[in-house]
Formats: sequence, structure tokens, C-alpha cells
Amino acid sequence: MKIFNRYTPLQIGIHLYAWSALAWILFELLTDSFSINPIQELEQRTGRHAITLLVLSLVCTPLNTIFKFPELLKRRRALGLYALLYAAIHVLIFINLDYGLAWSLIVRTIFEKPYIIVGALSFLLMIPLGVTSFDIWKVRLGKNWKRLHQVVYLIAPLAALHYLWSKKGDILTLSGDIVRPVIYGLILAIFLILRIPVVRKYIASLTTGKLALPFKKNPQPKVDAS
Ligand code: HEM
Repeated sequence: MKIFNRYTPLQIGIHLYAWSALAWILFELLTDSFSINPIQELEQRTGRHAITLLVLSLVCTPLNTIFKFPELLKRRRALGLYALLYAAIHVLIFINLDYGLAWSLIVRTIFEKPYIIVGALSFLLMIPLGVTSFDIWKVRLGKNWKRLHQVVYLIAPLAALHYLWSKKGDILTLSGDIVRPVIYGLILAIFLILRIPVVRKYIASLTTGKLALPFKKNPQPKVDAS
């Protein structure tokens, strides 16, 4: 099929997954099967999809270190940009549908609810990364490009904290609605630890050792010619 010549299965999978949330929302809206609390549902679903895509963009590098699948590295940009798209929709829903562009009320709410400040910080930091994610900016910014894009290590924990904080519950007893955000936080923590250079090197040495083993030529026993 022509499509498979132009796009890899991973690329197709990422695009399908990214659009699936909007498609599903549209389908439920058109079939009148959407939530009875549509604004909150829209806000929550777009927020969850944004953070999921953000986490997926971060797990590409460690997964490549473990499984040696370099195509993952090429897909980080698409995942990051989709995360920004969903975060922008999430914010627009908050500003427009939830608060009807009542700016003074929006500002008051932001300062009354610290989890929104954290979310806003995460969102604002995502914007320069999205804008400079294109190759032309890589060339323009040179070494600073990598430095700038390391801000994602701050953005993702902030988004996870925003998610956790937006929920009612007790983190110690894991009661309430906080199991899901705690799982996100744990996945994020594990994959961020895997990105620490010393850990990364260790994993890489382990995996190359393991992967190399089956292909290593077995040393031939010396045959005594006499
Ligand atoms: C200006 C920036 C932001 C604002 C004003 C904002 C606002 C909100 C609000 C009001 C809620 C609570 C919804 C509810 O339960 O009724 C929420 C939840 C959430 N937000 Fe944000 N947010 C922002 C940025 C972000 C960003 C950048 C992300 C992710 C990358 C994000 C992900 C989430 C998630 C995952 C939830 C919880 C969804 C759920 O309850 O299942 N938000 N946000």
C-alpha cells in the first residue's frame, strides 16, 4: 500500500492515537452520547490526552536506549507538538467554555487555585519548545537548542503535579481520584531517572551486552594439529 511507503507503522500509529481523542469526542457529541457535564469532560479529556502525549514524547529516548529502536527519536517532535495542541485546546476550553472569557474571574481563579498556576506554567513553557522544535531552529540555536529543550524535564513534572493537585484524595492512602495521576507521576519518574546520563550509560551497556551476546562469535577451541 502507498501509505506504508511514505509513513512507517509507528508514524501512522502516533497520528491515529493523537487524533483519536478529538475524533472520539466528536463522535460522542454527534451521537448525543457525551457526558452530562460536557465542559468538565472536555477539559479533563483534553488535559489527560495532553499529558499522555507529553509522557510518550519523553519515553522515546529511554525506550531507544533499552530496545535500540532509533525511529523513536524521530517521533518525539510529533508527540510533543500533539501534546502542545491538546494542552492549547484544554486551556481554550478553560478560558472560553468554562469561564466565558471573563478575564477578571479567570485571573482570580488562577491565583486562588495553585494547581492552575502550575498548569499554566507548564503550558507557557511548552510554547517556546513547540515553536523551536523545527529543524530551522535547531540550526539557528545551535547548542542552545538542546539546553532549551531540556526544559521539558521541568514541564512534564509540572503537568503531572497539576494533574495530581487537581484531584481530591489522599496521596498516602491513595484514596479518592489520585490513583491515575500517581501512576502517571511514577511512570514519568522512572523514565526521567532512566535519562540520567550515568543510568542511561549503565542500561546501554547492559542492553548492548545482552543483545551482542547471541551474535558474538564463539571463540573456536584451539585444535591441536599434532
Ligand atoms: C493555563 C494552563 C492550564 C489551565 C488553566 C488548566 C486548567 C485545568 C483545570 C481547571 C482542570 C480541572 C478540570 C476539572 O477536573 O474540572 C485541569 C485538569 C487537568 N489538566 Fe489542566 N490546565 C492547564 C494546563 C495543563 C497542561 C499544560 C496539561 C498537560 C500537559 C494539563 C493537564 C491536565 C490534566 C491531566 C488534568 C486532569 C484531568 C482529569 O481530571 O482527568 N493542564 N486543568
